[in-house]
Amino acid sequence: MNLPNMLEAKKRTKNKVSYIYDNIINNNTFKGLKYYIRTYGCQMNVHDSEEIKSLLESIGYIETNEMDDADLIILNTCAIRENAHDKVFGFLGRCKHLKKEKENLIIALCGCMAQEEGVVNEILKNHKYIDIVFGTHNINEFPKMLLNKTKNLNINVYSKEGEVIEIGNHYIRDSKYTAWVNIMYGCDKFCTYCIVPYTRGKQRSRKSKDILDEVNELINLGYKEITLLGQNVNAYGKDLENELDFSSLLELVAKTNIERIRFVTSHPWDFTDKMIDIIAKYDNIMPYIHLPLQSGSDRILKLMGRRYTKDEYIELYNKIKSKVKNVSITTDIIVGFPNETDEDFKETLDVVNTCKFDGAFTFIYSKRESTPAALMEDKVSLEEKESRLKTLNELVNKYSLENNKKYLNKTVKVLLLGISEKDNNKLYGYTDTMKLVNVLCNKDLIGTIQDVYITDTKSFSLDGIIKE
Ligand code: 5AD
Ligand code: SF4
Repeated sequence: MNLPNMLEAKKRTKNKVSYIYDNIINNNTFKGLKYYIRTYGCQMNVHDSEEIKSLLESIGYIETNEMDDADLIILNTCAIRENAHDKVFGFLGRCKHLKKEKENLIIALCGCMAQEEGVVNEILKNHKYIDIVFGTHNINEFPKMLLNKTKNLNINVYSKEGEVIEIGNHYIRDSKYTAWVNIMYGCDKFCTYCIVPYTRGKQRSRKSKDILDEVNELINLGYKEITLLGQNVNAYGKDLENELDFSSLLELVAKTNIERIRFVTSHPWDFTDKMIDIIAKYDNIMPYIHLPLQSGSDRILKLMGRRYTKDEYIELYNKIKSKVKNVSITTDIIVGFPNETDEDFKETLDVVNTCKFDGAFTFIYSKRESTPAALMEDKVSLEEKESRLKTLNELVNKYSLENNKKYLNKTVKVLLLGISEKDNNKLYGYTDTMKLVNVLCNKDLIGTIQDVYITDTKSFSLDGIIKE
């Protein structure tokens, strides 16, 4: 975003926490310098990276896709599973090497890993070549840290989350057609395996007025689709007095008449009948729901602190299926939670066989420091967990393919987003139900919603042509 727009955005956010640009905006220190950003993890991180890019470009930096070209490398990290650490520290090794050749290279680490005490200690001990570390609660301080940078490692991470900071609608977004809109930050659910409540803090909802302003601004900018974003979107508003609940917010967003609305992630415990009715009522709320199951065993669900039973999950699933026309439902499943037995695992397979999900993200349980589950003893071997994951994935893929086959020879609406990575002659896009479709068509159609006739189906995507 250019500076006039930036200032305009600032004016719009009067009375909100003011930004720190005043000192930096007239400063040419960073003009023309290049940054390279690498993002790990969930949509929340992807959207945080958009904010980081916006901040950097407002002070003069330009993005590069070549790491070797960069004057500044930023790693926006994820902490949800332990192997994320290995990836980040592996990548940092490459950065260290580059820094030997390029003395002025700045390396910054942020995101969920930066909120972990163990990681900060590890950086202090073994990775002093990193220049800047900031956390998930103070992204807006990054430009100031760059300006005040000294030769020493500067770690600035807040353990407490503080107020929601409204920064106005000045995001540089990765897409011109689909946009993420944060409606809340953090999570209060404290599932016993999950590190998110510790790295992202307690739940803080944005005010509905600010959310609706952002949606209207996106409509004016020509966006076709928005995704309301939060770790637990349907708990929206519960932390604020006199605020709407998620269903009412969703209804107001639907009434803006934006073409497509999505939301992630919903918790089964907060999924009300009112919410199902609103989804069913508005054509611009997409019939796609991501509804994490985590486990099908009541015993494990209780140990996980998930607040529902297997039967309650299936009942909710059936209710959504019966009320929302053509809905597709995906899920998250963890195998190998401490001391998960064969019986427990069979219960999970049983739910998959009952629900026949459109898709599932499946994970082996990963022990995360400072979560309650990390203290539970676990006698199940990694081999056993890997074998369960394989069995689960085979079943999940079977149902994905079965569900996708129903699209063969049908015509569906697809929002075309860009050139397909696999075949440059095709565009890729998504159906209302969030199925990935590769379409043989003219590139001018990027950014439009088209009727697409499905000619072939696979487990993870569909092929199609424009309907004449
Ligand atoms: N181990 C494995 N998977 C996890 N998830 C969250 N925490 C863990 C963990 N410690 C999974 C859950 C969640 C998804 C985003 O990541 O399935 O829904
Ligand atoms: Fe983690 Fe549970 Fe919150 Fe999801 S609902 S972010 S799994 S604590």
